[in-house]
Amino acid sequence: MTTIIRRATPADAARVVDITRRNFTETFGHLYPPEDLAYFLDNSYSLDAHRTLLADDGYAIWLLERDGEALGHAVAGPAGLPHPDVAEGDGELKRLYILREAHNGGWGSKLFRTVLDWLERDGPRTLWIGVWSENLGAQRFYGRYGFERVGEYLFPVGNTNDHEFILRRPKAAAVRG
Ligand SMILES: CC(C)(COP(=O)(O)OP(=O)(O)OC[C@H]1O[C@@H](n2cnc3c(N)ncnc32)[C@H](O)[C@@H]1OP(=O)(O)O)[C@@H](O)C(=O)NCCC(=O)NCCS
Repeated sequence: MTTIIRRATPADAARVVDITRRNFTETFGHLYPPEDLAYFLDNSYSLDAHRTLLADDGYAIWLLERDGEALGHAVAGPAGLPHPDVAEGDGELKRLYILREAHNGGWGSKLFRTVLDWLERDGPRTLWIGVWSENLGAQRFYGRYGFERVGEYLFPVGNTNDHEFILRRPKAAAVRG
């Protein structure tokens, strides 16, 4: 079995959308009425949206693949969370997902370190993450890298509003997990 992490290119747009939709549905699909889930996937996780992201140097997407099959993905880019301290130049982890069958094998940590290295490729900077308030496993995971809760907001999935926490790691607080 060969498992790799690689940066996705514009040619991977359809593959990225497919794993994105599978990752989100497996992790959170049970929380929403089917029509809210379908609306969210079609609008927020569309092929066009991902083609745009993959063509933009300010964003990066990675795929976790085992023997050529996508198992997970991560997305990073400029910070866009609704917090008054978010500043120009800050970075954000926008998504980090791995299929359940591959959890707890260290791949989440490897993928996250890849993202952190890219976000801080020009030196340390303040980083942000939005995480579902009840996703305690992910909060523990991010806490090991120095991210702390500094706010909250509502994230719409169709007509459902999720209660999300805003996590921040200040520029000087890099921790390698
Ligand atoms: C978060 C995630 C990427 C970690 O990947 P992983 O390969 O399991 O991570 P590692 O093996 O490197 O580390 C394991 C740690 O991940 C976290 N974790 C484990 N299972 C998890 C789950 N089902 N959901 C969220 N976090 C989880 C825990 O902190 C765990 O360590 P601990 O239980 O000993 O404290 C992965 O669990 C995942 O994709 N979860 C579902 C999607 C998700 O919640 N993404 C975050 C959205 S903001």
